[in-house]
Parts: sequence; C-alpha cells; structure tokens
Amino acid sequence: MDLETIESVETLRQTISCKRSEGLRVSFVPTMGFLHEGHAALIRKAAEMAPVVVVSVFVNPLQFGPSEDFDRYPRDIEHDKKVILAAGGNVLFAPSADVLTPINLEVMVDPGSLASVLCGRSRPGHFRGVCTIVAKLFNIVQPDYAVFGWKDAQQLIIIKKMVSDLNFPIEIVGVETVREADGLAMSSRNVYLSAEERRRAPVLYQALEQARHRAIIGDCTDAHLLRKSIISRIVNEMGGRVDYVEVVRISDLVPLNDVEIGNTMIAAAVFLGQTRLIDNVRF
Ligand code: PAF
Repeated sequence: MDLETIESVETLRQTISCKRSEGLRVSFVPTMGFLHEGHAALIRKAAEMAPVVVVSVFVNPLQFGPSEDFDRYPRDIEHDKKVILAAGGNVLFAPSADVLTPINLEVMVDPGSLASVLCGRSRPGHFRGVCTIVAKLFNIVQPDYAVFGWKDAQQLIIIKKMVSDLNFPIEIVGVETVREADGLAMSSRNVYLSAEERRRAPVLYQALEQARHRAIIGDCTDAHLLRKSIISRIVNEMGGRVDYVEVVRISDLVPLNDVEIGNTMIAAAVFLGQTRLIDNVRF
C-alpha cells in the first residue's frame, strides 16, 4: 500500500470516514517526526491493532518551554515517510503549525496533578501542551487505538488518565522502549550528542538497570539509597547533570520510600552537555 500524505483536517476526516465506511478500524501514532527504530516499533504495533494506521508528524510548539529546543528540533519528513511505510503505516498526517496551533488558540487541557512531578516539575506547561495537542489529534483522527512509548512513561500515564477522565473512546497501548545495542534509549534528541557524550550516555540506563536489579533481588529496596547510587554513577561515570532521579509508584507517580515490586518506576532526566536525556525502568 502507498503512503497517503495529508495536511488538512478536512481531508484527513474524509479519508478516515471513507475507510470506516468500509468497516476498517483505525490505529494512531502521534509523533514529532525525525523517526527512528523506537517510532517504527510503535507503528508496527499500531499495524497489528488495525488495518488503517495513521501517523502524525507535528513538532508541537505548545510543549516546548521558551528556552527549549523547538527551533532546532530535528526534522526530516522524507526520511519519516520511508520509516512509516516500512513499518506498516498507511496515512501520514503532517499539518502545518497554523492548522493545529492557530494564534487564536486559547482552550487548553489541564493534565492535573500527574503533571506536577518528574518532567512536569522541570518543564512547566509541557504536559498541558502535550495533552492539548494530543486531544486535538484524537478529535481529528478519532482512532480506535493510539500507541505511545514507555520511554516517555509520564506522558503515557497522563494520556491514559486524560482518555479516562475526558471519556475518549480510545484504547491507549504502551510499547516498550527500544534501545541501541549499548542500552541507550532511542530518542530523536540523541542526534544532539557529541561523539564523546554519546560514548558516556549509556551509563544512565546501566545505573537505572543496576538499581532495578538490586531492588528485585532484595539487595536494596530503600528508595533513598537507590537514588543515591544512581546519582553517583550519573555524576561520576557519565559526567551528567541530574535534573531528577525519582522512585515512584507507577499508578499515580507518588514518590515511594521503599520499592513496591510490581508497581514501581525509577525515572530519571539528565543533562549531558546541552542534551536532556530521559529514561526509566519499571518493576
Ligand atoms: O511523544 C511525542 O513525540 C509528543 O509528545 C507527542 C505525543 C507527539 C505530542 O506532541
């Protein structure tokens, strides 16, 4: 099948309604483009869920802070088209900024308390921007399924809550983080890393994974001690600047004193040079 590329809301709606009238179900993968193997895994999952697979590519200005990387966020739509097609996507929705974020846009989605911790604490307004754009995309695409990566665990958890609280008739599907051979979580922002930073970057996952292992074998279950050991490796081995390292309950992102096997996430955000890396382990 060819990849149909659509820029307008009206054309997308017509295309989807035509497919639906043939009895076809629709799955959706929202992205900001510069697609990599992690996105390909989301698209492959979406293709398993339904025959119509819509992928959006939109660098959402609402989710970037004033001093963040919106202007230099990497973009390569021709490469994205190849990744989408190879992974089983068949509709690309690539609207321009004035279509999704016109200057008179005022109504925003408030993500509530789940957005006040972890990345939400260091990126005020970020999840409000994410929820607003994802809600708009959900209303435009009206998919049966929407697929998100566990790499952005807080985003996935907030989107699930939004869908439940606002009664979107959409099933949210999470896909495990895809990693480079050395463990670094794939991210469009990895392209910012210098060769030297890229060499040190895998320490983040190694430190998280070591803490997860210690917790599950019962060697250390104290959240404070686990955080301390992760932070020490990030600072000393990786040369990173810690934004946060938190041990939280997955269901509500509340900080834990002691791990709860089956409902714990250790999440971290680290600056390596100018690049902010995030990752997490769950157990
Ligand atoms: O995860 C992302 O790429 C973005 O936050 C999303 C979900 C596409 C919303 O802009």
